[in-house]
Amino acid sequence: MNITPNSLETLVAQRDTNSDNLDNLTLGELCNYIVKRHHVYCRENIPFLKKNLEEICQVHGEQHPELFEIKELFIGFVRDFTVHIQKEEIMLFPFIQGLESAKNENSPLPKSPFRSISDPIVMMIEEHQNEDQRFNKISELSKNYHIPEDACTTYEVTLNKLKDFENDLHIHIQLENNILFPKAIELIKE
Ligand SMILES: [Fe+2]
Ligand SMILES: [Fe+2]
Repeated sequence: MNITPNSLETLVAQRDTNSDNLDNLTLGELCNYIVKRHHVYCRENIPFLKKNLEEICQVHGEQHPELFEIKELFIGFVRDFTVHIQKEEIMLFPFIQGLESAKNENSPLPKSPFRSISDPIVMMIEEHQNEDQRFNKISELSKNYHIPEDACTTYEVTLNKLKDFENDLHIHIQLENNILFPKAIELIKE
C-alpha cells in the first residue's frame, strides 16, 4: 500500500483500527500511526486525568473510598507506561523500521541493540498484560465506570474520560500485539 503523509493523517483522523488499511500499512507506517494516534493521545490525556482524579478524591473520597485506589492505580500506570512508550519510540520502533528498510533495499540487517528481536517484544507484551490487569482493576473498582447519584460534573467527566482512555489503551495494545509484533517477527524470520 502506498500511503502518503496525507492519507496517514486521514487514517489517524478516522480512528478506525479495525480498518483493513492498517493491516496494509508498512511496518514503518504502522509504527508512525501508533505513535501519532495512540502515544500522543495517551500523553495528552494523562495530565487531565491525574488532576481530576486528585480533585474527586478530595471532594468525594470519603463517600467513595475506591477513588483513592483508582487514583493510585492510575499513577502507577502513568509511571510505568510513559517509560513503556518511550522504549518503543526510542528503541523498538526504529529497529523495526530499520529491519524493514534493510529488507526492501536488500542491505545488511541493522545492528540489533537487543540479543534477539523477540526479547524486547516479549517484554513489551508482558508490560501490556500488566496494564491490562491494572485497568481491569480500575474498571472493577468503578463498577465499569458507573456514575454514582451524588457525583458532580467533574466526577462524571473524569470517569467518562477514564473509560475512553481504557478503550484507547486496549486498541493500542491489540494493534501492537496482534499486528505490529507478529509482522516484525515474521520479517526477522525471512
Ligand atoms: Fe505503544
Ligand atoms: Fe506497547
